Amino acid sequence: MRHLMSPLDFTVEELDKLLDLANDIEKNPQKYAHACEGKKIATLFYEPSTRTRLSFEAAMLNLGGSVLGFSSADSSSAAKGESVSDTIRIVSCYADICAMRHPKEGAPLVASLKSSIPVINAGDGGHQHPTQTLTDLLTIRSLKGRLGNLTIGLCGDLKFGRTVHSLIHALVRYPNVRFVLISPEELRIPDYIRDDVLVRNNQSFREVIRLEDALPELDLLYMTRVQKERFFNEEDYVRMKDFYILDKAKMELARPDMLVLHPLPRVNEISVEVDDDPRAVYFKQVQYGVYVRMALILTLLEVEVC
Ligand code: CP
Repeated sequence: MRHLMSPLDFTVEELDKLLDLANDIEKNPQKYAHACEGKKIATLFYEPSTRTRLSFEAAMLNLGGSVLGFSSADSSSAAKGESVSDTIRIVSCYADICAMRHPKEGAPLVASLKSSIPVINAGDGGHQHPTQTLTDLLTIRSLKGRLGNLTIGLCGDLKFGRTVHSLIHALVRYPNVRFVLISPEELRIPDYIRDDVLVRNNQSFREVIRLEDALPELDLLYMTRVQKERFFNEEDYVRMKDFYILDKAKMELARPDMLVLHPLPRVNEISVEVDDDPRAVYFKQVQYGVYVRMALILTLLEVEVC
């Protein structure tokens, strides 16, 4: 039995196979419509979510399976003090696979140690968000045709943004990827990512503060929101929240084929006037999230579709 805690849980070859499967699902959805009949996914969300929870549920329903779960800690027995270890032992009796989001780093890993069903980390605190990374990789590969030979700008809250941490972990394994890390001083990438992932892998990267300075050289811009829920005080959040706003004028500095991705939700960091620009692909990215979660469920449940 396999769990998914980090994008590194899959080798590059396994990732390629998973993304190929997701592309086949996109082309032939009917072929997979009954693949998980009789199977259930439990979505255990101790933190708010729109995309991740609903896309897991849509993925399982698209595969002919069923869904159960809770969407907040308050509506589960966590409110009475139940541990994730006990909860997963219970849920293992009800479902075949589960996706867990939790505000504490490592909570899905703790659950996986007591689980008799595959556990998927659907976001743990400011740590990792591997299924967002699978979504991002599928989007990039499908729309750019490759995962190597790219200059990628990561912009916004690089300190608390778990999607950025997971994406860097995944992309350092591809050749000739150059990162431009665009953030205010207070929201720089954490040392454990800079030193243990980027420096250790001899990765080409530079840190800049002004988005305008980076835009002309990028193949891809990955925008992120400032993570309000991880700030210790409101004042710091208010000071940081509108530090970057991508608008039409800034898009003119970018290459005609630069893609704009965002894990969403968006707050103010991308002006709605950018949505109609063909380079803005963040809503397409959401659709890829369903295909790749379908592929992940099939892979972890070891369901073969001929
Ligand atoms: N991208 C993402 O994780 O969105 P949700 O918080 O809505 O799940």
